[in-house]
Amino acid sequence: MSKNIELIWQGHACFEIRGSKRIIVDPFLEGNPVAKIKKEDVEADIVVVTHGHSDHVGDALYIGKKNEAPIVTMVELAWLLSEKDKSLTIHDINFSGNVIIDGVKITAVPALHSSSYEGKYAGNPGGMIIEMDGTTIYHAGDTGIFKDMELIGSMYKPDIAMLPIGGHYTMSPNEAAEAVKMIKPKVAIPMHYSTFPLIKQDPSVFKSLAEKDGGIKIIIPEIGKNFNVDIK
Ligand code: NI
Ligand code: MN
Repeated sequence: MSKNIELIWQGHACFEIRGSKRIIVDPFLEGNPVAKIKKEDVEADIVVVTHGHSDHVGDALYIGKKNEAPIVTMVELAWLLSEKDKSLTIHDINFSGNVIIDGVKITAVPALHSSSYEGKYAGNPGGMIIEMDGTTIYHAGDTGIFKDMELIGSMYKPDIAMLPIGGHYTMSPNEAAEAVKMIKPKVAIPMHYSTFPLIKQDPSVFKSLAEKDGGIKIIIPEIGKNFNVDIK
């Protein structure tokens, strides 16, 4: 298994994932009060968007265009984004569907949430399973807890799970810790918290709840700082 994946959390649900390709997920940078990078400075080969809310679509169109990078997202949102810019390559996938781009496999899985874009219904929200260089990452998008997380865990066996803990719109530390027990990743990373006052949370609460039964490591990244995940 490759250890060559490097991650950078850019705050909220935005992660840069660097291996043989550079991927950015949910690139909400402009207007994100905690992001440490500007959309102009992002270098990406693939842009992944989990669902239609503005704090996830963010700068996807800008980054996709500037880097000539394909965008991967859920079907109806893909259609809405295509209408905005027909020059972009946008891959529309739906639950259990996948695309393989330059050896990176991206599979859509359910998320228990909603999705709209610029006031229009944008179909179903998703989570994304990203497989690159022998490492499997589950980015859960925005979601409440649901029992099929167990299936996502047993089906895709993610090494790393990125889970929202901010509450209000998504799981709180309590639900996210329970989700970790269903997904059983090697490492879980909290996200989507403390960007705004409404979703303020202490990630150490999630860490202690999720690590209580042992076996799963929780990493709380520092925003804007690259880190590696040691997967044994
Ligand atoms: Ni959302
Ligand atoms: Mn959100």
